[in-house]
Amino acid sequence: MAFKNILVGVDGSDSSKKALKKAVELAKILGAKLNIVAVVKPIELAAIDYIPPEDIEQYEMEQIEKVKPCLKEAADFARENGIEPAVKILEGEPAEELMDYADENNCDLIVVGYRGKGGFKKLLLGSTAGNLVKYANQSVLVVK
Ligand SMILES: Nc1ncnc2c1ncn2[C@@H]1O[C@H](COP(=O)(O)OP(=O)(O)O)[C@@H](O)[C@H]1O
Ligand SMILES: [Mg+2]
Repeated sequence: MAFKNILVGVDGSDSSKKALKKAVELAKILGAKLNIVAVVKPIELAAIDYIPPEDIEQYEMEQIEKVKPCLKEAADFARENGIEPAVKILEGEPAEELMDYADENNCDLIVVGYRGKGGFKKLLLGSTAGNLVKYANQSVLVVK
């Protein structure tokens, strides 16, 4: 059974751009729905005690503003290829949020790059990608 509802995670990295490209190609070939999701990480929990709530809100707003251009670029790329995507920004731990989104929206394939932004160079596979492969309920395509 072919995939009908694809989720791709974008973080602005070159690797995630490659993943997006593959996800769009797949959606096109399979006639599948495409969901493009970016997850914004909250301030490190350890620091929260020392930061006033309004500053946290400000930080989160800034993070959201930062990912918007990257999501727009991704959505435009999909549209140029004849796919009208569902686009969403979520807040939290990236792998967890992507998994929850996939479960809640009945996605049947999660597509990600094998590296992301700011990962440890020594890791062969990024932590988000690794956790998705290990724990997601859906098939995961890690694009190299
Ligand atoms: N915050 C995020 N929101 C959406 N997708 C993400 C996010 N972080 C990573 N991804 C996806 O996971 C892929 C691998 O990134 P990751 O595992 O985080 O590597 P690294 O550890 O190098 O940052 C990315 O190419 C992207 O497709
Ligand atoms: Mg990462």
